[in-house]
Amino acid sequence: MSRLVYVLNGPNLNLLGKRQPHIYGHETLADVERDCRALAEELGLQIRFHQSNREYELIDWIHEARETAAGIVINPAAFTHTSVAILDALNTFEGSVIEVHISNVHKREEFRHHSFVSKRADGVIAGFGTQGYLLGLRRVANLLDEKKDSA
Ligand code: DQA
Repeated sequence: MSRLVYVLNGPNLNLLGKRQPHIYGHETLADVERDCRALAEELGLQIRFHQSNREYELIDWIHEARETAAGIVINPAAFTHTSVAILDALNTFEGSVIEVHISNVHKREEFRHHSFVSKRADGVIAGFGTQGYLLGLRRVANLLDEKKDSA
């Protein structure tokens, strides 16, 4: 079975490290990618790591993942709260979906409390900083191992 995982990042996350560091921290997205790649190697996962400010690109990567991947770890950023289209795309994906937010969205403005993506996600991680991505990868690896053991 494929051990490919897509790690997808939504709008403004290209500015991670520079953008509101009191909320999102000082690590850049390149740091996150480096840490994800190191952990993926340890867990025997392959990863494709992407960021876009455009909703359709995220949707296209989810469609691509449908064909090849076992899991998606996604921080949809502001699209979390607005995008039925990303929810619909994720609903076409059969593998594991983990939703990640760097900040604790529930401690923040009311409009961040609702997530369309959570209607599909198998797990949601919020408020663990950029470590959330690593926890998400570990969860996908565990789910894959569980599936393998029960096969
Ligand atoms: C975020 C939280 C969202 O509400 C926000 O729009 C983001 C980042 C997070 O990682 O904490 O851009 O997804």
